[in-house]
Amino acid sequence: MKETGEATVLREWVRAHRAAGRRIGFVPTMGFLHEGHLRLVDEARRRADPVVMSIFVNPLQFAPTEDLARYPRDLPRDRALAAARGVDLLFVPSAAVMYPPGSETRVVPGEAATRWEGAARPGHFAGVLTVVAKLFNLVSPDVACFGRKDIQQATLIAAMVRDLDWPIEVVVVPTVRETDGLALSSRNVYLSAEERGQALGLNRALAAARDAWAAGERRAAALEGTVRATLRMYPGVAADYIAVCEPGRMAPVAEAPAGTVIALAARVGSTRLIDNTVLGEEPG
Ligand code: PAJ
Repeated sequence: MKETGEATVLREWVRAHRAAGRRIGFVPTMGFLHEGHLRLVDEARRRADPVVMSIFVNPLQFAPTEDLARYPRDLPRDRALAAARGVDLLFVPSAAVMYPPGSETRVVPGEAATRWEGAARPGHFAGVLTVVAKLFNLVSPDVACFGRKDIQQATLIAAMVRDLDWPIEVVVVPTVRETDGLALSSRNVYLSAEERGQALGLNRALAAARDAWAAGERRAAALEGTVRATLRMYPGVAADYIAVCEPGRMAPVAEAPAGTVIALAARVGSTRLIDNTVLGEEPG
């Protein structure tokens, strides 16, 4: 596996592969890799060769009050995991490479960014789309893989690619979970053993709504009520939002046909977690 922090080295490497007629796959991450990230590598590998992964904890997508300074980092471990999974090029730029002084241009996300995560984290999606746009321009991939775990992010990135006419295939990969259902997240390391038990409530609440939906419930308010009632059995979980929404614009719905998204965010202690499910699809 080759590794670089230099944009010029990355561009030259990609140019050589493209000249040889290869399809470039891309997996952007903020590192502290887990099986969810690595599953994106597998998916990219199925659709392209070579595969580029980036690791960059993007300051632009963190509000001043958020966890940028303590966001978990372990580059030696990430390097070993990425290499073992068959990443061909690891791009690890510094903040100075990504945002040199005077770098002020931002991507303005569409309406779907105003809701849920976007409402809870003002400026977050502008930061995400700006860094992903820059990475797309540096890597110029044919295919890029994102996790359904961050469904609103994946939706906004797919919309950006469409709206800005990038010839990039955006693939959304189902959420990878622990055997007990907890969605893998780099932020799970913040949880104490007790909080880890409470955090299960997120997936349990989504599973309860899936069960209600499978039994015929289609009223969004009733499904939201099921999520809320289940969360009440986990006193360590404080719900932030519970969204029952359509998958495209993430707009709330009154009725929930197949394909409807139930997304939620909650605090467990001082850790903010998100999870979601797509009704009528496999639970991932
Ligand atoms: P990060 O949180 O590191 O996640 C990188 C990618 O892994 C995202 O596409 C995310 O949805 C996916 N992912 C995370 N947990 C997952 C899980 N349990 N199952 C499947 N996929 C999972 O998301 C970001 O970084 C950043 O916002 C980024 C897109 C890199 C821009 O900075």
